[in-house]
Amino acid sequence: MHHDTTAGQHRHEHTPAATGQGGRHPDVDEETARFWEEHYGRHERVWSGRANPILVDVAGAVPAGTVLDLGCGEGGDALWLAGRGWRVTAVDVSETALARAAEEASAAGVASHIEFRRHDLTRTFPPGEYDLVSAQFLQSPLEFPRAELLRSAARAVAPGGRLLIVEHGEVPPWGRHDHAHARFSTPQETLAALDLDPDRWDTERLDAPRRQATGPNGETGELVDHVVLVHRRR
Ligand SMILES: C[S@@+](CC[C@H](N)C(=O)[O-])C[C@H]1O[C@@H](n2cnc3c(N)ncnc32)[C@H](O)[C@@H]1O
Repeated sequence: MHHDTTAGQHRHEHTPAATGQGGRHPDVDEETARFWEEHYGRHERVWSGRANPILVDVAGAVPAGTVLDLGCGEGGDALWLAGRGWRVTAVDVSETALARAAEEASAAGVASHIEFRRHDLTRTFPPGEYDLVSAQFLQSPLEFPRAELLRSAARAVAPGGRLLIVEHGEVPPWGRHDHAHARFSTPQETLAALDLDPDRWDTERLDAPRRQATGPNGETGELVDHVVLVHRRR
């Protein structure tokens, strides 16, 4: 895992977010870090390890370039992308998730294509511009400034590049029951929150497909995904 210890830069340009020792860090919200560490600590592996299908469709249809994977978790998408020639920057707040992802990347022989970075994305954002910025289920039961974060994601798209946002449209059947009535932003609301200049961006996907999926304990159920794919003109 890459640990960036650069200090004193503008928060949205540089990223001193890693402690490397699971200790406190001013650029990581403690409650957020604790929540996700506990989440990943409950199981040896939380997610399936398979890449998210909509990401596979979108990234598979364009030439490989640079990609920023926001909230990469255990690295299923990052590994898939790296295996197809993308140069990946994969970011998460959870040191446990990042460590698992880095281990898998080494085992799969793609570690040289992926830079893992720890960020609390509500505090610091990776520098640079990317051909694809991917936010796959970057959702949390904790309150966080989602619209602001997604606007940072849009600012990280290079000319000619894309931003793909895929989110749960409903709580998954295996999700927390106390969130069963949570309301999720529609794809149209998410697009509006991005506040993109229509002269510079085209909307390529704005829909809510349903799919069959398997949950963390092997349960199956139908999920609705909210999908926003926007393309920045050159
Ligand atoms: C629902 S999981 C999705 C993981 C992965 N993208 C996937 O599709 O399987 C959300 C991920 O976002 C990360 N996350 C949540 N809040 C974050 C924050 N403020 N900064 C960085 N990562 C965060 C969590 O640690 C978790 O790995």
